[in-house]
Amino acid sequence: MTIVVTGATGAVGRPLVEGLHAAGVAVRAVTRHPDTAGFPAGVSIVDSVGAALPGASAVFLNSRALGEDLVDVVAAARRHGVKRLVALSALNADDDFSRQPSRLRGDRNKEVEQYAVDSGLQWVSLRPAAFAATVANMWAPQIKAGDTVGGPYATASIAPIVEADIAAVAARAFLTDDLVGRKVELTGPQAMTNTELVAVIGEVLDRPLHYQQVSNDVVRQRFTTAGLSPEFADAYIAMLAATVDTPALVTTEVEEILGRPAEPWPQWVSEHRHQFAS
Ligand SMILES: NC(=O)c1ccc[n+]([C@@H]2O[C@H](COP(=O)([O-])OP(=O)(O)OC[C@H]3O[C@@H](n4cnc5c(N)ncnc54)[C@H](OP(=O)(O)O)[C@@H]3O)[C@@H](O)[C@H]2O)c1
Repeated sequence: MTIVVTGATGAVGRPLVEGLHAAGVAVRAVTRHPDTAGFPAGVSIVDSVGAALPGASAVFLNSRALGEDLVDVVAAARRHGVKRLVALSALNADDDFSRQPSRLRGDRNKEVEQYAVDSGLQWVSLRPAAFAATVANMWAPQIKAGDTVGGPYATASIAPIVEADIAAVAARAFLTDDLVGRKVELTGPQAMTNTELVAVIGEVLDRPLHYQQVSNDVVRQRFTTAGLSPEFADAYIAMLAATVDTPALVTTEVEEILGRPAEPWPQWVSEHRHQFAS
């Protein structure tokens, strides 16, 4: 079995490459920067997905990494006799696009799933909730600068999932037939409000951190200062608004698939406390 991993140096791709390699599978890791990729010896590092496909049996599709090439890569995979596609989609892929900020970064989580489903090949679609590292990266600059994290909707909730858990499920999607033909909704073990998520970081760091709800105008200003568009801010605000009255979905898929619970937010924060150090 030879597995092509697109987005291989990324949040999910890297632990997936390492997990498949450790399981004894031949892995072709696709990256634009092969010289600095830093994968274990024995992993093939390839600078284009086109070069990686001949002779491959399965492909991990990351729409951010594939960009405009996504649809062509699925067609090429079919031509090259690939048997299985595992798509990295998102829990909110079916939501109105106005509530999907990631689309404004070019992510195509709805399409990557649909192309896999329509490919005629075996497919699995992984639909993760917000990644723990993404939440942390968004808040870390404010936590380094002070004790207040400002943002929309203090009572909006998410159930952040640890990237390594997504990668471990993705590895199962390749190494077993258990998930074929499934759209697998992956979340952390608990839905927590913004207030609760920030309080956990404060407990771990032993600091009096708190989340302060700010107006949508302030959110837009902050996002534009950080180099993101006002449209991105509006989509983020709209995404969070949907969980103010209805708590975020929590699934037990990680535990059912891996036979152990999904990693909780407090544990992940504890392991990554250095990310918040000034
Ligand atoms: N973050 C979240 O909370 C979240 C939640 C649910 C779903 N998702 C979805 O997960 C996917 C992202 O996965 P990820 O976080 O593992 O990816 P990532 O770490 O952002 O990127 C994966 C790799 O793709 C390459 N890449 C990044 N941006 C690129 C671009 N503009 N053009 C070409 N290559 C690019 C980079 O590799 P090289 O530089 O080595 O080429 C990067 O290491 C997206 O579809 C996103 O919507 C994210």
